[in-house]
Amino acid sequence: MSSPGAEQAAQWFAAQYASAPKGVWHAPGRANLIGEHTDYNDGFVLPFALDRGTFAAAAPHQDAVLELTSRQAAGRRGPGALGRVEIPLDSLAPGRVTGWAAYPAGVIWALREAGYPVPGARVAVDSDLPQGAGLSSSAALECAVALALTELAGLDVIRPELAAIARRAENDFVGVPTGIMDQSAALLGQAGHALLLDCRSGETDPVPLDPARSGLSLVIIDTRARHALTESGYAARHIECEEAARALGVRTLRDVAGPESLSALADPVLRRRARHVITENQRVLETAALLRRGQVDGIGRLLNESHASLRDDFEISWPEADVAVDAAVGAGALGARMMGGGFGGSVIALLPLDGAAVHEAVRAAFRGQGWPDPGFLNAPPSSSARRLR
Ligand code: GLA
Repeated sequence: MSSPGAEQAAQWFAAQYASAPKGVWHAPGRANLIGEHTDYNDGFVLPFALDRGTFAAAAPHQDAVLELTSRQAAGRRGPGALGRVEIPLDSLAPGRVTGWAAYPAGVIWALREAGYPVPGARVAVDSDLPQGAGLSSSAALECAVALALTELAGLDVIRPELAAIARRAENDFVGVPTGIMDQSAALLGQAGHALLLDCRSGETDPVPLDPARSGLSLVIIDTRARHALTESGYAARHIECEEAARALGVRTLRDVAGPESLSALADPVLRRRARHVITENQRVLETAALLRRGQVDGIGRLLNESHASLRDDFEISWPEADVAVDAAVGAGALGARMMGGGFGGSVIALLPLDGAAVHEAVRAAFRGQGWPDPGFLNAPPSSSARRLR
């Protein structure tokens, strides 16, 4: 099934390379209902795929070269705005490629490292995801390219493995120590469902998520405050969690029985970090249980608790997110919380189906602070990555 986005990506490819692509692949961005900074602690997450994402129009290359072009990068100005890149495959090594091209280059590197002999390719990338909004545009880019390259090469790599390969591209090639959540949502999400993922065992369980049936909707509020995981305190939090686990004598924070065990941690900062992770894991499981019983309205409280924990214990919220959450809840949202890695990006809120009053309240609160208007995106849980033409 093709789509206007796939046609546009194919045209972009044709304009750049004066030939037609072999196919167009798509991977969605993700929202995360709940379970933040739990993935790299071997914990639980509950993300879902968005109805927007990244397109990769691709064709084999006659040489051992990865040629890349991005419609978004071509439209930007300034350093790092390279719209076209050519990378000989034998020169691929971590640190050699920078900017947006490092993500697709990292994917071909990680595929080859995993023993998949992927040959050269031309890839033209297009996206309808706002970048830096915390919707995992980087994982969408990795996963669209990973699917394109493996299918072009006639390789059938199972999706959990492809997700691990895309994560490796980000961790070891780009150099950001993220967990497995975003790539899993992009490759394993299902329409009408959130994905309960046990990040230790890799076990996945689709959980029905259809807020409209309960007269509700999920909305993403783009606070316009931009984050870049590579520059943020994300890596610092990852290290603190490892320190807390070491001090508690467990493999990861997943293995701590409950918040009551934390009195053994002398350092108050590490105690707060660990408390977030432990209580967040519990909230994820409680949210999944409520959704299974069809009690969507019951999860609002858990979203609010998650936000408070991310703000006060994990200390990764940002002023625009706090203002958006307070204004949304004050105007009738059942719950709201910051989403993603932190320090910028988006908030997710559960609203009555007609959420106009909430939108207006958040806009007014932003104006009162002198900030630009936030963006509002509907977030219906959508399908995972696939070939579109
Ligand atoms: C980013 C990372 C994920 C996850 C979240 C926080 O999106 O890519 O792996 O750690 O932050 O939950």
